[in-house]
Amino acid sequence: MRGKLVVGNWKMNGGLAANAALLSELATGWKPAAGRELAVCAPYPYLPQVQGALAGTPIAWGAQDVSEHDAGAFTGEVSARMLAEFGCRYAIVGHSERRQYFGDTDAIVAAKAGSALATGITPIACVGETLAEREGRVTEAVVLRQLDAVLAAVGSGATRLVIAYEPVWAIGTGRTASPAEAQAVHATLRARLAKAGAVDVPLLYGGSVKADNAAALFAMADIDGGLIGGASLKAAEFLAIARA
Ligand code: 13P
Repeated sequence: MRGKLVVGNWKMNGGLAANAALLSELATGWKPAAGRELAVCAPYPYLPQVQGALAGTPIAWGAQDVSEHDAGAFTGEVSARMLAEFGCRYAIVGHSERRQYFGDTDAIVAAKAGSALATGITPIACVGETLAEREGRVTEAVVLRQLDAVLAAVGSGATRLVIAYEPVWAIGTGRTASPAEAQAVHATLRARLAKAGAVDVPLLYGGSVKADNAAALFAMADIDGGLIGGASLKAAEFLAIARA
């Protein structure tokens, strides 16, 4: 059976004091349950702090990106091997903000996923359409193009991926895809993963997930959890989402 997974994406938020309070509330408040996992993806400099606070708890952690390169003259980049040294289980790749503001193409995202997998880190590969693409009725084509790039790069590693569907128009806007809209895209992604021999890959939904809409989204057949932005910065709200 597929497990349930809820991941917090702090984005470029946090600070030593605020992180310490948040992490301690999460560590105290999260009761582990079979088949359910909670994780947080923090900015790079805070990974040692996150590791210190969460090591020995059932909560996992990860980064919000990773370099496609192994080592060398790549100023500003952070390799998968470095993330592994700080106990990261996950690395988000292909978040729409990276695609939109930092030029991450399908090919770069695919290479990043491959480099994470090669180091034993699970990539959380994000796909999602813009509002213009949804209105142009090309949602399926866009998300499948993005997914196919990753699948082609990782080959048999596909079974070790996590995929997150994040419609760009729902990120940080307060506008969530309805459970039925999200499920329709997840079913499309699931069918493509099945063809790649990876039907049981966790498929997360992201985009304005809050405590009051999480249960309805997570009840859908092909939604295995969430990738949570703003609401992951508040311990009580994030825990409520995780319990949903
Ligand atoms: P919000 O939950 O703030 O809409 O962000 C979603 C997201 O981008 C998670 O990666």
